[in-house]
Amino acid sequence: MRILSGVQPSGKLHLGNYFGAIRQHIDLQDDPANECFYFIADYHALTTLHDAETLRQCSHDVAVTYLALGLDPQRTVFYRQSDLPEVQELSWMLSAVTGMGLLERAHSYKDKIARGITPRVGLFTYPVLMASDILIVQGEMVPVGQDQVQHIEMTQDMAQSFNAAFGREVLRRPEWKLSRTPKVPGTDGSKMSKSYGNTIEIFAQGKALKKSIMGIVTKPIDLGQPLPIENDTVLALYELFASEAEVEEMREGYRSGSMGYGQAKKELLARVDEHFAAARDRREELLQEPDTIEDVLAEGARRAREVARATIEACREAVGMRGRPA
Ligand code: ADP
Ligand code: TRP
Repeated sequence: MRILSGVQPSGKLHLGNYFGAIRQHIDLQDDPANECFYFIADYHALTTLHDAETLRQCSHDVAVTYLALGLDPQRTVFYRQSDLPEVQELSWMLSAVTGMGLLERAHSYKDKIARGITPRVGLFTYPVLMASDILIVQGEMVPVGQDQVQHIEMTQDMAQSFNAAFGREVLRRPEWKLSRTPKVPGTDGSKMSKSYGNTIEIFAQGKALKKSIMGIVTKPIDLGQPLPIENDTVLALYELFASEAEVEEMREGYRSGSMGYGQAKKELLARVDEHFAAARDRREELLQEPDTIEDVLAEGARRAREVARATIEACREAVGMRGRPA
């Protein structure tokens, strides 16, 4: 099965990215029947990030993070979105068959605007670019977090509209796939997101890690009093790392009043720290090898472009354009 997914290099990757997306991306490599394509969505990041040096650094950081967490470039095609110009060409073709109403219904756009992000054309047409990412490599399955499901549904619509408009089955309809934990809460209790400033970074350590975990917003309840277990962010995050029995123990501590938020946060901190220790060491090594990272991405772009060129040629033919001269 052809698998495809992308992550924006708009900041440091966090626990939401890991448990919602990256962990399943890495696991999917293990099935030899899968052909995985993962990419760094730098065109997408331009919708919110306008600083060249930061974009370069974040893109490099996403690459290092994936490799440190176990992406295997032998088995997986790993590339930068902007190394595939065919994505932009398909994006234009899709926008020519996509109704305004479809984009106007996008939750992600509406949420971002509600949070004060400037509404720009690129932010609005973002789902078209995302559909293009998927359709250009003929992805069949797209592993993502909950917030992206609507974008995949839109991709299905766009593929169908294109095929219907031009009377050929050129683009393949993708399906989405959620992880077991598709909606990880951030430190303020809403969806963890780079755009919302409520993240716990995968590779934070020491004081920075402590600061973000101790900063999780909790209710003002006196020490020794029982704590509510419903919709509790510390518990929800602890569940990502601990066994069912360990989580139950923490819940019991909440109910009886023997566990305060400070103690619960300390236990969570220890888990996060330990869980990523080995990957953190690999990351340190990879940071010393910038050329290796560039080589991996260049080879990934070469492999992805072969597929992208075939798709765009089929699309050009379908819409009535000539094959592109070599
Ligand atoms: P962000 O919202 O932080 O900018 P991205 O939009 O780049 O993150 O998301 C990359 C992947 O991580 C997507 O598949 C997305 O669904 C997933 N993801 C992001 N935040 C979360 C979250 N809080 N819980 C689960 N999955 C998430
Ligand atoms: N929009 C996705 C996000 O913010 C990132 C992304 C871009 C993506 N293109 C994609 C994810 C294609 C899956 C498939 O999380």
